Amino acid sequence: MTELAPHAAPHTKGILLSGGSGTRLYPMTQAASKQLLPVYDKPMIFYPLSTLILAGIREIMIITTPTDMPQFQRLLGDGSAFGVEFTYRVQQCPEGIAQAFLIAEDWLKGSHCALALGDNLIFADRLEFMLLNATRRQRGATVFSYQVRDPERYGVVTFDEQGKALDIVEKPEEPESNWAVTGLYFYDDRVCEMAHKVTPSPRGELEITDLNRMYLAEGTLHVDHLDRGCAWLDAGTPDSLMQAGTFVQAIQSRQGLLVGSPTEAAFRMGFLSAEKLRERGQSMAKTELGRMLLNVAEGNKRPLKRKKS
Ligand code: TTP
Repeated sequence: MTELAPHAAPHTKGILLSGGSGTRLYPMTQAASKQLLPVYDKPMIFYPLSTLILAGIREIMIITTPTDMPQFQRLLGDGSAFGVEFTYRVQQCPEGIAQAFLIAEDWLKGSHCALALGDNLIFADRLEFMLLNATRRQRGATVFSYQVRDPERYGVVTFDEQGKALDIVEKPEEPESNWAVTGLYFYDDRVCEMAHKVTPSPRGELEITDLNRMYLAEGTLHVDHLDRGCAWLDAGTPDSLMQAGTFVQAIQSRQGLLVGSPTEAAFRMGFLSAEKLRERGQSMAKTELGRMLLNVAEGNKRPLKRKKS
């Protein structure tokens, strides 16, 4: 783990990218957005939303497809339920993750930006510290790498013997390492300018890996490891969707601690008062999730005993 950067964090906005086609989840995603599917007891998008909130980000743009936009607005509203402010934008066609910066350029107005993919879940003990470190960097980009068994599905990063990143390759047929780049990225105020230089890949997408390679080439890409105590899950296939749900269920019912609740994250960050948290918990009082929120609002340190159903 690197030392905490010594400066105050520059102003950072967040993008939650929740478009795409979700073809690997057909037929589940033929009539519904992937990022609104349930991961145990919450819609998938709640998990990356919690991550952005834990990074201290309050201005968040949600980018989705023209057809899915009304459902996202219905679920999330203007953000006041989470003490944040949402702006919605459409991506007409899924032309690549790096396109997010072209869509958001006028809204970003040169601020730093964190981009979270709407189908990625990160669970880590020291997550807030890692996020704070990334947001405090004045220059360059920060990505997180995680060891996986199937690196060929992701952007793969290789390191030299000192642990310095040497290269990143998108979905290599023969990966040179098991370190995948996760779907959470932090960029400085030059990100839109850099994104304009990305050209479509052979599969016709503006690849986030190409953007990251530009930062790598100028020596300003930081690759922080998520170690084995962390979990990174993407929920893009039936198996990984199931695994993500089972993981959240296991932690929540074993420890009585919430995973991926933007309401709890907002409370912890001081974005929501205990009163608001209580109201939110009461509105879902019939659910275990609602009871857990009420427990947090009461300041109970001890996990809840589960109600017999
Ligand atoms: P992917 O899982 O790579 O793509 P997908 O969601 O279209 O799914 P599939 O491969 O099964 O067809 O996308 C990763 C995340 O990025 C996901 O949350 C969707 C989002 N995304 C967009 O919003 N717009 C895009 O242009 C792309 C490529 C992805």
